[in-house]
Amino acid sequence: MLKFDVITVFPDYLKPLELSLMGKAIEDGLISVNVKDLRDYTTDKHQTVDDSPYGGGPGMVMKPEPWGDALDEFATAETILIIPTPSGKPFTQALATELSKEKHIVFACGRYEGIDSRVAEHYKTKIRVEEVSIGDYVLAGGEVAVLVMVEAIARLVPGVLGNQESFADDSFAVGAMENLLEGPIYTRPPVWRDLEVPQVLTSGDHAKISAWKHEQAKLRTAQNRPDLAE
Ligand code: ADE
Repeated sequence: MLKFDVITVFPDYLKPLELSLMGKAIEDGLISVNVKDLRDYTTDKHQTVDDSPYGGGPGMVMKPEPWGDALDEFATAETILIIPTPSGKPFTQALATELSKEKHIVFACGRYEGIDSRVAEHYKTKIRVEEVSIGDYVLAGGEVAVLVMVEAIARLVPGVLGNQESFADDSFAVGAMENLLEGPIYTRPPVWRDLEVPQVLTSGDHAKISAWKHEQAKLRTAQNRPDLAE
Protein backbone atom coordinates (compact mmCIF):
# COMPACT_ATOMS: atom_id res chain seq x y z
CA MET A 1 0.00 0.00 0.00
CA LEU A 2 1.41 3.35 -1.09
CA LYS A 3 -0.13 6.28 0.79
CA PHE A 4 -0.35 9.72 -0.81
CA ASP A 5 -1.24 12.82 1.20
CA VAL A 6 -1.80 16.03 -0.74
CA ILE A 7 -1.88 19.41 1.00
CA THR A 8 -3.45 22.19 -1.06
CA VAL A 9 -5.65 25.28 -0.89
CA PHE A 10 -7.80 23.72 -3.66
CA PRO A 11 -8.78 20.21 -2.51
CA ASP A 12 -11.32 19.86 -5.35
CA TYR A 13 -8.50 20.02 -7.90
CA LEU A 14 -7.51 16.47 -6.89
CA LYS A 15 -10.98 14.98 -7.49
CA PRO A 16 -9.99 13.33 -10.81
CA LEU A 17 -7.87 10.87 -8.80
CA GLU A 18 -11.14 9.21 -7.76
CA LEU A 19 -11.75 8.18 -11.38
CA SER A 20 -10.71 5.36 -13.66
CA LEU A 21 -7.45 3.49 -12.96
CA MET A 22 -6.62 5.57 -9.86
CA GLY A 23 -10.14 5.16 -8.43
CA LYS A 24 -9.89 1.40 -8.95
CA ALA A 25 -6.44 1.26 -7.30
CA ILE A 26 -7.86 3.09 -4.26
CA GLU A 27 -10.87 0.76 -4.15
CA ASP A 28 -8.53 -2.25 -4.35
CA GLY A 29 -6.45 -0.94 -1.42
CA LEU A 30 -3.26 -0.68 -3.50
CA ILE A 31 -2.90 3.07 -2.93
CA SER A 32 -4.65 5.68 -0.80
CA VAL A 33 -5.07 9.36 -1.61
CA ASN A 34 -5.89 11.75 1.21
CA VAL A 35 -6.36 15.44 0.39
CA LYS A 36 -6.05 18.09 3.10
CA ASP A 37 -6.91 21.79 2.97
CA LEU A 38 -3.94 23.97 3.99
CA ARG A 39 -6.36 26.61 5.31
CA ASP A 40 -7.27 24.22 8.15
CA TYR A 41 -3.81 25.05 9.54
CA THR A 42 -4.22 28.83 9.57
CA THR A 43 -4.94 30.60 12.82
CA ASP A 44 -6.32 33.98 11.72
CA LYS A 45 -9.90 34.88 10.86
CA HIS A 46 -9.13 35.33 7.17
CA GLN A 47 -7.25 32.00 6.92
CA THR A 48 -4.29 33.75 5.32
CA VAL A 49 -1.81 31.50 3.53
CA ASP A 50 0.27 34.08 1.63
CA ASP A 51 2.17 37.31 2.11
CA SER A 52 4.34 39.66 0.03
CA PRO A 53 7.88 38.55 -0.82
CA TYR A 54 10.92 39.78 1.12
CA GLY A 55 13.23 41.61 -1.28
CA GLY A 56 10.32 42.75 -3.43
CA GLY A 57 9.14 41.39 -6.73
CA PRO A 58 5.78 40.40 -8.15
CA GLY A 59 3.15 38.16 -6.61
CA MET A 60 2.79 36.56 -3.22
CA VAL A 61 4.67 33.86 -1.31
CA MET A 62 3.06 31.13 0.80
CA LYS A 63 3.72 31.67 4.51
CA PRO A 64 5.74 28.96 6.29
CA GLU A 65 3.66 28.56 9.48
CA PRO A 66 0.56 26.79 8.06
CA TRP A 67 2.88 24.52 6.05
CA GLY A 68 4.88 23.67 9.16
CA ASP A 69 1.77 22.81 11.16
CA ALA A 70 0.32 20.71 8.32
CA LEU A 71 3.54 18.87 7.52
CA ASP A 72 4.29 18.15 11.19
CA GLU A 73 0.96 16.33 11.27
CA PHE A 74 1.57 14.27 8.12
CA ALA A 75 5.31 13.61 7.96
CA THR A 76 6.85 10.56 9.63
CA ALA A 77 10.40 9.16 9.36
CA GLU A 78 9.25 7.10 6.32
CA THR A 79 7.75 10.05 4.44
CA ILE A 80 9.08 11.52 1.23
CA LEU A 81 8.03 15.13 0.84
CA ILE A 82 7.57 16.31 -2.74
CA ILE A 83 7.26 19.99 -3.50
CA PRO A 84 6.14 20.58 -7.11
CA THR A 85 7.80 23.67 -8.56
CA PRO A 86 9.04 24.70 -12.00
CA SER A 87 12.45 25.23 -10.41
CA GLY A 88 12.70 21.62 -9.21
CA LYS A 89 14.55 18.65 -10.67
CA PRO A 90 12.83 16.96 -13.62
CA PHE A 91 10.14 14.38 -12.92
CA THR A 92 11.10 11.34 -15.02
CA GLN A 93 10.01 7.74 -15.45
CA ALA A 94 13.07 6.76 -13.42
CA LEU A 95 11.96 8.95 -10.50
CA ALA A 96 8.37 7.65 -10.81
CA THR A 97 9.70 4.08 -10.65
CA GLU A 98 11.78 4.85 -7.56
CA LEU A 99 8.84 6.57 -5.82
CA SER A 100 6.45 3.70 -6.65
CA LYS A 101 8.45 1.54 -4.20
CA GLU A 102 7.94 3.94 -1.27
CA LYS A 103 5.37 3.73 1.53
CA HIS A 104 4.31 7.34 2.03
CA ILE A 105 4.53 10.42 -0.18
CA VAL A 106 3.32 13.86 0.89
CA PHE A 107 2.84 16.53 -1.78
CA ALA A 108 2.91 20.19 -0.78
CA CYS A 109 1.12 22.18 -3.48
CA GLY A 110 2.32 25.75 -3.79
CA ARG A 111 0.22 28.47 -5.38
CA TYR A 112 1.21 32.04 -6.23
CA GLU A 113 5.00 32.41 -6.54
CA GLY A 114 5.62 29.36 -4.33
CA ILE A 115 6.28 28.39 -0.70
CA ASP A 116 8.72 30.19 1.63
CA SER A 117 12.01 28.33 1.00
CA ARG A 118 12.59 27.69 4.70
CA VAL A 119 9.86 25.01 4.59
CA ALA A 120 11.94 22.81 2.25
CA GLU A 121 15.12 23.72 4.12
CA HIS A 122 13.62 22.72 7.49
CA TYR A 123 12.18 19.38 6.38
CA LYS A 124 15.38 18.47 4.51
CA THR A 125 17.03 18.19 7.93
CA LYS A 126 14.42 15.59 8.96
CA ILE A 127 13.24 13.59 5.92
CA ARG A 128 13.85 13.17 2.18
CA VAL A 129 12.53 16.23 0.37
CA GLU A 130 12.44 16.62 -3.41
CA GLU A 131 11.56 19.77 -5.30
CA VAL A 132 10.27 18.44 -8.61
CA SER A 133 9.20 19.95 -11.94
CA ILE A 134 7.00 18.11 -14.45
CA GLY A 135 8.27 20.13 -17.40
CA ASP A 136 9.70 23.36 -18.69
CA TYR A 137 6.56 25.47 -18.43
CA VAL A 138 4.82 27.25 -15.58
CA LEU A 139 1.49 26.10 -14.15
CA ALA A 140 -0.73 28.18 -11.87
CA GLY A 141 0.00 25.85 -8.95
CA GLY A 142 1.29 22.44 -7.95
CA GLU A 143 -2.08 20.64 -8.07
CA VAL A 144 -2.01 19.65 -11.74
CA ALA A 145 1.60 18.52 -11.36
CA VAL A 146 0.46 16.29 -8.48
CA LEU A 147 -2.27 14.74 -10.67
CA VAL A 148 0.44 13.93 -13.20
CA MET A 149 2.90 12.53 -10.65
CA VAL A 150 0.38 10.45 -8.68
CA GLU A 151 -0.86 8.83 -11.88
CA ALA A 152 2.64 8.14 -13.20
CA ILE A 153 3.78 6.70 -9.84
CA ALA A 154 0.63 4.74 -8.94
CA ARG A 155 0.37 2.86 -12.26
CA LEU A 156 3.78 1.35 -11.45
CA VAL A 157 2.59 -0.05 -8.11
CA PRO A 158 2.25 -3.84 -8.55
CA GLY A 159 -1.35 -4.83 -9.23
CA VAL A 160 -2.55 -1.38 -10.38
CA LEU A 161 -2.27 -2.27 -14.05
CA GLY A 162 -4.11 -5.50 -14.82
CA ASN A 163 -1.28 -6.95 -16.83
CA GLN A 164 2.19 -6.47 -15.36
CA GLU A 165 3.58 -6.65 -18.91
CA SER A 166 1.79 -3.50 -19.91
CA PHE A 167 4.39 -1.04 -18.69
CA ALA A 168 7.46 -3.02 -19.82
CA ASP A 169 7.56 -1.33 -23.23
CA ASP A 170 6.25 2.10 -22.28
CA SER A 171 8.17 5.01 -23.66
CA PHE A 172 10.98 5.71 -21.13
CA ALA A 173 10.30 2.40 -19.32
CA VAL A 174 13.19 1.66 -16.98
CA GLY A 175 14.95 -1.39 -18.44
CA ALA A 176 15.06 -2.45 -22.08
CA MET A 177 13.25 0.53 -23.62
CA GLU A 178 14.98 3.22 -21.58
CA ASN A 179 15.55 6.35 -23.68
CA LEU A 180 13.38 5.04 -26.51
CA LEU A 181 9.90 6.26 -27.37
CA GLU A 182 7.28 3.61 -28.04
CA GLY A 183 6.61 3.15 -31.78
CA PRO A 184 3.26 3.02 -33.62
CA ILE A 185 0.52 0.60 -32.48
CA TYR A 186 -2.42 -1.01 -34.33
CA THR A 187 -5.57 -3.03 -33.76
CA ARG A 188 -8.39 -4.38 -35.98
CA PRO A 189 -9.53 -3.89 -38.71
CA PRO A 190 -6.55 -4.95 -40.87
CA VAL A 191 -7.41 -2.23 -43.44
CA TRP A 192 -8.90 1.13 -42.48
CA ARG A 193 -9.38 3.96 -45.02
CA ASP A 194 -6.96 2.21 -47.38
CA LEU A 195 -4.31 2.02 -44.65
CA GLU A 196 -2.96 -1.46 -43.95
CA VAL A 197 -1.52 -2.71 -40.69
CA PRO A 198 2.24 -3.37 -41.24
CA GLN A 199 2.47 -6.98 -42.45
CA VAL A 200 5.20 -7.97 -40.02
CA LEU A 201 2.72 -7.61 -37.13
CA THR A 202 0.44 -10.31 -38.54
CA SER A 203 3.32 -12.62 -39.53
CA GLY A 204 3.38 -14.50 -36.22
CA ASP A 205 7.21 -14.31 -36.27
CA HIS A 206 7.93 -12.97 -32.77
CA ALA A 207 11.64 -12.36 -33.29
CA LYS A 208 10.91 -10.37 -36.43
CA ILE A 209 8.14 -8.43 -34.66
CA SER A 210 10.48 -7.53 -31.79
CA ALA A 211 13.18 -6.36 -34.19
CA TRP A 212 10.63 -4.27 -36.14
CA LYS A 213 9.27 -2.66 -32.95
CA HIS A 214 12.78 -1.76 -31.86
CA GLU A 215 13.53 -0.24 -35.27
CA GLN A 216 10.30 1.79 -35.17
CA ALA A 217 11.07 2.96 -31.64
CA LYS A 218 14.47 4.22 -32.81
CA LEU A 219 12.91 6.02 -35.80
CA ARG A 220 10.30 7.73 -33.65
CA THR A 221 12.87 8.73 -31.05
CA ALA A 222 15.12 10.26 -33.72
CA GLN A 223 12.13 12.15 -35.15
CA ASN A 224 10.48 13.44 -31.98
CA ARG A 225 13.30 13.47 -29.43
CA PRO A 226 16.69 13.88 -31.11
CA ASP A 227 18.04 14.79 -27.65
CA LEU A 228 17.34 11.21 -26.47
CA ALA A 229 18.55 9.55 -29.66
CA GLU A 230 22.15 10.65 -29.13
N1 ADE B 1 4.16 24.44 -10.45
C1 ADE B 1 4.11 25.37 -11.43
N2 ADE B 1 4.68 24.92 -12.55
C2 ADE B 1 5.13 23.66 -12.27
C3 ADE B 1 5.83 22.67 -13.01
N3 ADE B 1 6.21 22.87 -14.28
N4 ADE B 1 6.12 21.52 -12.40
C4 ADE B 1 5.77 21.30 -11.12
N5 ADE B 1 5.11 22.19 -10.37
C5 ADE B 1 4.80 23.36 -10.94
